[in-house]
Amino acid sequence: MALSAEVPGEVLAAARARLADVTADRRDLFELRLARWWDDLRDGVGHVYPDSAELLLELVGAAAEAYAERDPELHRLDQERTLAPDWFQRPQMLGYATYAERFAGDLAGVAEGIGYLRDLGVTYLHLMPLLRPRDGDNDGGYAVADYRQVRADLGTMDDLRDLAARLRRAGISLVLDLVLNHVAREHAWAVAARAGSAQHRDYFLVFPDRTLPDQYEQTLPEVFPDFAPGSFTWDADLQGWVWTTFNSWQWDLNWANPRVFAELARVVLFLANQGVEVLRLDAIAFLWKRMGTTSQNEPEVHAITQALRALARIACPGLIFKAEAIVGPADLVHYLGAGARHGKVSDLAYHNALMVHVWSMLAAKDVRLASHALRALPPVPSTTAWVTYVRCHDDIGWAIADEDAAAVGLSGPAHRAFLSDWYSGEFPGSDARGLVFQHNPATGDRRISGTTASLAGLEAARESGDDEAVDGAVARVLLAHAVVMGWGGIPVLWSGDEVALPNDPAWADDPAHAGDNRWAHRPPLDLDALARAQGPSTVEGRVLAGLRHLARTRAALPHLHASVRPDVLGPDDPGVLLVARRHPLGTMLAAYNVTAQWRPVAGWRLREHGLGHAVDALTGADVGPGDDDQLWLAPWRAVWLTAADA
Ligand code: GLC
Repeated sequence: MALSAEVPGEVLAAARARLADVTADRRDLFELRLARWWDDLRDGVGHVYPDSAELLLELVGAAAEAYAERDPELHRLDQERTLAPDWFQRPQMLGYATYAERFAGDLAGVAEGIGYLRDLGVTYLHLMPLLRPRDGDNDGGYAVADYRQVRADLGTMDDLRDLAARLRRAGISLVLDLVLNHVAREHAWAVAARAGSAQHRDYFLVFPDRTLPDQYEQTLPEVFPDFAPGSFTWDADLQGWVWTTFNSWQWDLNWANPRVFAELARVVLFLANQGVEVLRLDAIAFLWKRMGTTSQNEPEVHAITQALRALARIACPGLIFKAEAIVGPADLVHYLGAGARHGKVSDLAYHNALMVHVWSMLAAKDVRLASHALRALPPVPSTTAWVTYVRCHDDIGWAIADEDAAAVGLSGPAHRAFLSDWYSGEFPGSDARGLVFQHNPATGDRRISGTTASLAGLEAARESGDDEAVDGAVARVLLAHAVVMGWGGIPVLWSGDEVALPNDPAWADDPAHAGDNRWAHRPPLDLDALARAQGPSTVEGRVLAGLRHLARTRAALPHLHASVRPDVLGPDDPGVLLVARRHPLGTMLAAYNVTAQWRPVAGWRLREHGLGHAVDALTGADVGPGDDDQLWLAPWRAVWLTAADA
């Protein structure tokens, strides 16, 4: 049986013309991959651009060129990844996310930090946007002025390639953002459009007057209501309103224009050839606009992703895609592939719902809402993985559905308001030190900024000098990480959280940052804190040792392979989250006590999973129900139970 429908003769010819100088074996491999992925490429492109024969020829030509130019070491990586397509699903994966300059000054500094990352167990490094952005405020680099240049203060493209190679040799995959919803107003395409190029004007969505923008805005949500209200910006050079979902200087690209697709496809191939192994598809939900909708999660978004991925599978299968779609659960699963696109879109996606529910459980000291909402999440393809995280560089928005809240007797708006009150420290008894981000009076939404330590009450506890409070807060920090490390997928630590850094007191000093309090939770890695972390009894040392221990324990548990789905059980006790992972080796049952009291797991629950005699992988101790037929968990305690004889 052939791998796929036949590739049209002219497409094959276009590829062969570019592969004249490669060896016969290598040419053969390209053709096999083209045959394997042709259907996905053609269907994805064809869904969006009905008249696509020419575009397909161009894309396959570009893929062949990139393939011919690809470094031998990267060709080898491609082979390795093809032989082990589950490489990113393995429990040994651990992510770390940081800004190069805040971690180590520049790209050369990051290379020097490889030992530190290895020590933590990191296998995946997300360096925040480092391609040349616009000057001044650039949304932390998310306003790209040139996809083919590195920010001058960080290094050059050669340095980036060198860093990617050094990371790879140390077993760490480099992850970079692909900002594909928008470019900076200073990007060459926008500059050309402003100078009157009709061709480039069509790279953007420009309207002569407010008629259509007003109609669109009736159903568009506000992303930055505080500092960038509305979704369109008047541009005097264009003499028109340009679509700007985010800031006024981030111009949305017109993906309905096949030229935009061709340009970004070339950027994907280019970055892959620098040695990038994972592309984070920034703000991917927003790519396709449709009147009368929120212009998020439209079907074309998934067709575009499928086509880009097929192209990468042909030219550079060492590269995978991660979707950054901070959307509701029902929409979210489509980014990993649902229905006909099952297994054909992004390989990774952020588990925003899990992150939100971790914080919700800790504030409410109750797991009922989380259990209900997480259990209701539709299954995702077994070839994909979630990126799990306690927090990231963005704010936390309380993405809790009203229906989920209602199902457990809560009011959605009231619970969301409670979470904002709790994490901004306004709720009586709250020890959280978050900051309110983008208060939207129209919807009542108040998103939250803050580091893990500050949100979990560790900053306040340390200031109070109360040892018991500190112990509790350290336990909560580790519990939150245990949940995300015990979920399956790639857990990603945010830089500084490993040594419990509080909010950066100097976050507003840079005038370009002063209006955006997300900078409070993007602190530079503090060398003093790192030094303190060497002491086993310091707070920093306890958090660091705890995280390392979680990572090591996780790496040795086959149950945590991402292909094994987590089943949320019960809850039997409202304070204990129960997650089972059924694996041929036996079930792993994780139990998390989110309260400040001792709480039980019932004996029958353990026996039901063959865990009447179990080992807690986190302590190595044999555990089982006591005389009262309950297993009691200490406050904020996590256990990962596996069969004693496994
Ligand atoms: C993503 C980024 C966020 C940025 C936005 C616009 O959501 O995570 O930081 O502001 O995209 O690029």
